[in-house]
Amino acid sequence: MDFSDVLHSRRSIRAFADKPVPQAIIDSILTDAIESPSSSNTQPYKVAVATGKTCQQLGQELLEKYRKINVIQRQPLPLKLFNAATSNAMPDGDYKPILGKYPGIFQDRRMHTGKGLYEIMGIQRGDKKARDAAMARNFTFFDAPVAIFVFIHPGMKFTALVDAGIMMQSLMLSATDKGLGTCPQGALGMWRSPLEKHFDIPKGYNLVCGLALGYPKEDEEVNSYRPRKISLDELLIPTK
Ligand SMILES: Cc1cc2nc3c(=O)[nH]c(=O)nc-3n(C[C@H](O)[C@H](O)[C@H](O)COP(=O)(O)O)c2cc1C
Repeated sequence: MDFSDVLHSRRSIRAFADKPVPQAIIDSILTDAIESPSSSNTQPYKVAVATGKTCQQLGQELLEKYRKINVIQRQPLPLKLFNAATSNAMPDGDYKPILGKYPGIFQDRRMHTGKGLYEIMGIQRGDKKARDAAMARNFTFFDAPVAIFVFIHPGMKFTALVDAGIMMQSLMLSATDKGLGTCPQGALGMWRSPLEKHFDIPKGYNLVCGLALGYPKEDEEVNSYRPRKISLDELLIPTK
């Protein structure tokens, strides 16, 4: 593929084939990602790569936590508080998600994107059960055989987030070029504790995002979703 085709064909993949990714390919994608620019070349990130049994176990552990909090959220207040304190399922990620509505136009874009995604999956707006099931698939990485967790060093403040984002995009474009699919997943930042069980995470690194990697499952409608991107006019700040 030429570069522009790689860029335009990358889309978030939410259904993966049951086909392992050879370690040499994972290594080559990561080696490409290392070429990314970073502030003062600090490269303030590290990744944990889960494959095989580790990937499966992590997926089950995260899914269990998601299921538990889903139940707790719907309980009446006293029980909710008790279970929140005792269940060990409460999110223990390093960054809190934005709860509730996003500000202004971002909420509109979020809703529009979510609506399109549910539509393509054939999920009705009021079908809470199907929506929960779709959300739950995040935690088993949409069946991807590889889950990558991105950590940053918070000592590098906001530049670490910029640097990690650029590195993730390099990784995703490299994967696309090799015929693989990816889905960046903020949802995978909700719990850190399951990762601690499987990886020796260096002290001082914060979990910022996860990423599913694998071969896209063919003939899956969800993988054909192409959410609307902003126009050049919406991107540009006009001159005075
Ligand atoms: C930081 C970040 C976090 C994301 N988190 C999730 C997630 O938790 N679950 C998910 O299905 N998609 C997630 N996405 C994918 C976005 O929904 C997707 O990038 C967006 O809708 C645009 O679609 P595209 O990637 O196909 O161009 C995330 C993307 C980014 C960049």
